[in-house]
Amino acid sequence: MTTTTPSLLSVRDLTMTFPGRRARSAPVRAVDGVSFDVAAGETLGLVGESGCGKSTTGRMIVRLLEPTAGSVSYDGRDISHLSQRQLKPLRRDLQMVFQDPHSSLNPRQTVARIISDPLLVQGSSAAEARKRAVELMELVGLIPEHIDRHPHEFSGGQAQRIGIARALATGPRLVVADEPVSALDVSVQAQIVNLMERLQRELGLAYLFIAHDLSVVKRVCDRVAVMYLGRIVEIGVKERVYAAPAHPYTRALLSAVPLPDPAAERARSGSRCSATRRAPPLPAGLHLPSALPQGAGDLPHRGAAAADRRPGRGPAGGLPLPRGTGR
Ligand SMILES: Nc1ncnc2c1ncn2[C@@H]1O[C@H](COP(=O)(O)OP(=O)(O)O)[C@@H](O)[C@H]1O
Ligand SMILES: [Mg+2]
Repeated sequence: MTTTTPSLLSVRDLTMTFPGRRARSAPVRAVDGVSFDVAAGETLGLVGESGCGKSTTGRMIVRLLEPTAGSVSYDGRDISHLSQRQLKPLRRDLQMVFQDPHSSLNPRQTVARIISDPLLVQGSSAAEARKRAVELMELVGLIPEHIDRHPHEFSGGQAQRIGIARALATGPRLVVADEPVSALDVSVQAQIVNLMERLQRELGLAYLFIAHDLSVVKRVCDRVAVMYLGRIVEIGVKERVYAAPAHPYTRALLSAVPLPDPAAERARSGSRCSATRRAPPLPAGLHLPSALPQGAGDLPHRGAAAADRRPGRGPAGGLPLPRGTGR
């Protein structure tokens, strides 16, 4: 991306400090001075191990969370502290796909209702919204006749297609996809990635594609940002980051990318346990580069708080979240 191309999304020094979960526990800095841009139609991969702050970053971008510091600018406008009412028109443009499709869909609602809801909120009539829901089902490869079924009648991959259709209903320009295939069977993951690639081409979408695994984003992203303990430790074009990772943590994450050759895979270190699911920690003795803003100050390491994570917990601050959004 050149400096002459205005960014669709521009994130600067984005920071989120959560209050301690218990009365006297210290606050937790989940995201610590994160900056990056996403151009229209581009895919930026955001990768790092569980608990490093990826979902919190995504939620601040779509303003399900309000940042404690720093800014999120969309199309040149700072949206970091807009009120819910001011955000309403922007909700058309900024959408999110969640990790666990089943827990992010209301089991009591029909597909028609789930996909139409964002349109009804934006003022479409019920008839218009239903017609659009049928079109969206076709677009994402679902059978429109199933429109009055409930989420439990669909497989995981189909449920994620419903989640994608819901995200596309209002015609967004930027979709934050928070580990959209992590909860799916490996055989289904490629189908959903293919679908997202096709939709991007057809609709000109920009994606922030979040994953804990570099192998997942390798195909889809143009650039990749590597996150570690709330900070971006490396960002660059995909070809460069994969071929010549500059940061030791990126190299550690890359060593967890499964090798295509099973013999070579077996020959690798036996100590690597389920490394494709969970990235290894930063090698012993390594620290974040001093060039990066430190600023963690007196805040504790988030590792302690990570043990507390509960699926489906809403964010601090009481902002609305789709039901039981998985992390
Ligand atoms: N609502 C919250 N309240 C307190 N701590 C939170 C909350 N949401 C996330 N955290 C903490 O912030 C850190 C980053 O979480 P998250 O953004 O979900 O990471 P990731 O998506 O990379 O797994 C974790 O330590 C997590 O426990
Ligand atoms: Mg997450």
